[in-house]
Amino acid sequence: MKVKEFRVVFSEQAIRARVAELGAEIQQIYGNEPLVMVCVLKGAFVFFADLVRHMTNNPELDFVRLASYGSSTESSTISFTKDIEIAIEGKHVLIVEDIIDTGHSMDFLLRQLAARGAKSLRLAVLIDKYERREVPVSADFVGFSMHEGFIVGYGLDYAEKYRELTAIYEIIPE
Ligand code: IMP
Ligand code: MG
Repeated sequence: MKVKEFRVVFSEQAIRARVAELGAEIQQIYGNEPLVMVCVLKGAFVFFADLVRHMTNNPELDFVRLASYGSSTESSTISFTKDIEIAIEGKHVLIVEDIIDTGHSMDFLLRQLAARGAKSLRLAVLIDKYERREVPVSADFVGFSMHEGFIVGYGLDYAEKYRELTAIYEIIPE
């Protein structure tokens, strides 16, 4: 795909304001209860870095990486390429993801972590993109919702590029 245009969808200021609101909302839910925040690599790394700096309850931080093989329409094609390293049994767990699209990745991760005896399991997602949803996954904390379009920036990539951009752009193909 050749990119014709980058169109701003969420500005740096809009993202900063929304992430601060989410941080306050999340902090209020957990209070001073022990919390493990899990970043889904790679796309969520910028969101995660900003979000955790709004926390005042000293959460434990960990990272997971998922891979999907072949057709995204089969949930069995998702696997871990890096699992979390912290034991989550008896602790509150908050997954932090960049975007929910078909829902397969988060459906897989929620099921996997739910089997490990966490005290609670919630999902924070920067962008809920709902047009292509195939599995009914809903996030507890949502930054922004959008219907369709392919976006990059603020951690999100197209072929591993554009993650460094400070705003979120929709890619318009030629
Ligand atoms: P799904 O919900 O399992 O379909 O997959 C979501 C994953 O696909 C996200 O974690 C992203 O890595 C990737 N993804 C989906 N939509 C976009 C997009 O618009 N831009 C960049 N990555 C995307
Ligand atoms: Mg991702």
